[in-house]
Amino acid sequence: MFNLKEMLLPLMLALCIMYPLAFSVSEDILLINYHIHIINDLPLEPPTNVPSLNLHCKSKDKDLGERAMFQHQDYAWDSKINLFRTTLFFCNARWRNKKQRYFEAFKATRDEDRCLDYHFSCIWSLRYDGIYFSSDNYTWTMQYPW
Ligand SMILES: *[C@@H]1O[C@H](CO)[C@@H](O)[C@H](O)[C@H]1NC(C)=O
Repeated sequence: MFNLKEMLLPLMLALCIMYPLAFSVSEDILLINYHIHIINDLPLEPPTNVPSLNLHCKSKDKDLGERAMFQHQDYAWDSKINLFRTTLFFCNARWRNKKQRYFEAFKATRDEDRCLDYHFSCIWSLRYDGIYFSSDNYTWTMQYPW
């Protein structure tokens, strides 16, 4: 039989050791500067002197403005995650007058882990059939069909 007092001391010691560890991990997440990349990989078609893609990205309190992109241009910005992990950047992508859709380019609760793998990057590639995501700049999965 264990005595409750005997059990309590190691338990409290363990808590004292583990709590700051857990806390420092979440603090580290907050300090990470994530890189969000959006690449225009839409097919090249005339008129080629006009950008094929228009992007407008913003968060609740930051408007990144309109961005017109030629083929293979990479538009990137950085973001940290806020204390409440509500950080969210969403974009409107317009492919000429063919297709348009909103997508979430960076969402703390979805991306904080998966974007750690490759230089803290979330990479998006806009293609003819939709919007693809990669967390390693190698394997791509369609996340938002047009
Ligand atoms: C992804 O890889 C390509 C070529 O393999 C490279 O040009 C590009 O800079 C890489 N992107 C990032 C965000 O590292």
